[in-house]
Amino acid sequence: MAIKGLILAGGTGSRLRPLTYTGAKQLLPVGNRPIIFYAVDDMVRAGITDIGVVVGETGALVREALGDGTQFGCRFTYLPQASPLGLAHAVKIARPFLGNEPFLMVLGDNLLRGGVVSLVERFAAAQPAAAVLLTRVDDPRQFGVAVVESGRVVRLVEKPQDPPSNLALVGVYCFDARVHEAVAHLEPSWRGELEITDAIQWLVDHDQPVDAAEVTGWWKDTGRPEDVLDANRLILEDLEPRLDGSVDRESRLTGRVTVQAGARVERSTLRGPAIIGKDAVIVDSYVGPYTSIGDKVELRGVEIELSVVLPESRLENIEGRIDQSLIGSRVTVCGRQDRPHTVRLVLGDQSRIEF
Ligand code: TTP
Repeated sequence: MAIKGLILAGGTGSRLRPLTYTGAKQLLPVGNRPIIFYAVDDMVRAGITDIGVVVGETGALVREALGDGTQFGCRFTYLPQASPLGLAHAVKIARPFLGNEPFLMVLGDNLLRGGVVSLVERFAAAQPAAAVLLTRVDDPRQFGVAVVESGRVVRLVEKPQDPPSNLALVGVYCFDARVHEAVAHLEPSWRGELEITDAIQWLVDHDQPVDAAEVTGWWKDTGRPEDVLDANRLILEDLEPRLDGSVDRESRLTGRVTVQAGARVERSTLRGPAIIGKDAVIVDSYVGPYTSIGDKVELRGVEIELSVVLPESRLENIEGRIDQSLIGSRVTVCGRQDRPHTVRLVLGDQSRIEF
């Protein structure tokens, strides 16, 4: 059974402003790779190579990053969604691409440690109308929650006040053509979106089998800045040490550190897991665990850990350690040596600074 792929890379990304004013949230890097690349890898690993990518306002950027698929060993078809009217709306506009083929749908801003191979294999073997991935969460009230009996979903509730289980839907779903009938029957929810949970509930209500499987390993939605830092930490847990750039004799590297090609490290301490991007310059600095420094970033006289810095930013002579920070691209942060000790700020809309 040939299964198609559908990756959702539209949306607003309002919780990740200001980074999403100029970028797509699915392109935020963790371990110096855009988040969406991991979803593509997962699909290709599951043998899915004909992939539709739903894009919104940031479509041009997503296209530029993903290309035609050659670099991943797959083929992309871009599917513009005029406005983010919901995950089920994305399925609706993807119909001409999907035809009546079964497909795997994933959210482009989600990361899954265990991949999708076992879910896809199970779906292909049992051929239910849908198969969904679930994970146990502490507070199910902010998720779509499933009630499962003998491996089948019997009921779904979106963001329940009184959760019937602690099994939350993660953004990974297999469907066959029956979902299109479900989607055709949907009305917009209170938030004005066509909800995929409603589509799945429709299938359940019409006695169509919906299989459930639990996530193995971790699952991470990267909707908020702290989630991006968390995702970066989880990805760096698997980092392989590698030295392609130059490190001088006065620098000390401990733990798993990757220094990418063209990067220069001088008189600095790097403590892994950490990654230094291509052509970055790290001088008189400390880069601590769980930190990703983007391409062409310059750090001089800086201590930083548990952070992500996007490409081409420059950080210089900062007092104190930068901790758990997400810094955009082409940002400048400079400490001032002269007196009076004032602070000068030029900040974009919705920036957030904690002294
Ligand atoms: P969400 O995180 O639910 O929504 P969002 O991107 O609008 O973010 P925010 O709430 O911060 O404003 O979306 C999950 C994923 O699905 C994300 O990768 C964007 C994508 N998406 C679409 O492609 N089309 C849509 O209509 C919606 C709602 C989301």
